[in-house]
Amino acid sequence: MPDITTPPSTRTGFDPAAMRGGEFYKLMTASVVPRPIAWVSTRSADGVLNLAPYSFFTVASSKPPILQFNSMGHKDSWRNTADTGEFVVNIGSESLIDQMNATSASFDHSVDEFEEVGLTAEPSTVVSVPRVAQAPISFECVRHSIIEMGNSSLIFGRVVHVSVRDDVLAPDGLPDFRRLAAPSRLGRSDWGLTPETVARQRPANP
Ligand SMILES: Cc1cc2nc3c(=O)[nH]c(=O)nc-3n(C[C@H](O)[C@H](O)[C@H](O)COP(=O)(O)O)c2cc1C
Repeated sequence: MPDITTPPSTRTGFDPAAMRGGEFYKLMTASVVPRPIAWVSTRSADGVLNLAPYSFFTVASSKPPILQFNSMGHKDSWRNTADTGEFVVNIGSESLIDQMNATSASFDHSVDEFEEVGLTAEPSTVVSVPRVAQAPISFECVRHSIIEMGNSSLIFGRVVHVSVRDDVLAPDGLPDFRRLAAPSRLGRSDWGLTPETVARQRPANP
């Protein structure tokens, strides 16, 4: 193991109860980094397509496979998922950052956001909500549950199909981190690009 030098001991403490909510949000989002981005496609009950990025996003369960994203407030993606029971989590790549960002605008729910930002809605394999043709990976999900928590709705979806563009697959059959080049969300208005990586085998059980 390399030497670990003792860092300087000065620290600044933050008390969420003493801060305005918006200020604490900025501290959290600049600290919990980098966050992967779910680029969520949905369809409204009236048939209008919707697309938006969500970085409060994670794998909630591996068996069954369940993805989760978090809508702060009842946004169109929440409403469409609640109404139709389906969504697709698209994973974008660095070349799509401007389109991903453009879909975070508060469009009226009558606006087709694929058309609005010039993206192609491609039919999914299992669910009726289309995926983003330009996105290298798409997870097709059916609603598992929605949990209301504070100002947020935690939306859980069981993955029923995944499609991965062949050019991002490595010879071992898994997505290659560099070829995928999925951008991440950092604090402020920053986006993360593909970072350096190191490999470590997990320790054997003692
Ligand atoms: C990179 C990025 C990540 C975002 N992550 C979230 C998030 O996790 N939760 C959220 O409620 N809004 C998030 N937003 C804001 C939404 O994308 C934005 O409110 C959008 O208009 C919601 O669209 P919808 O109403 O069509 O669902 C994020 C925006 C950006 C640019």
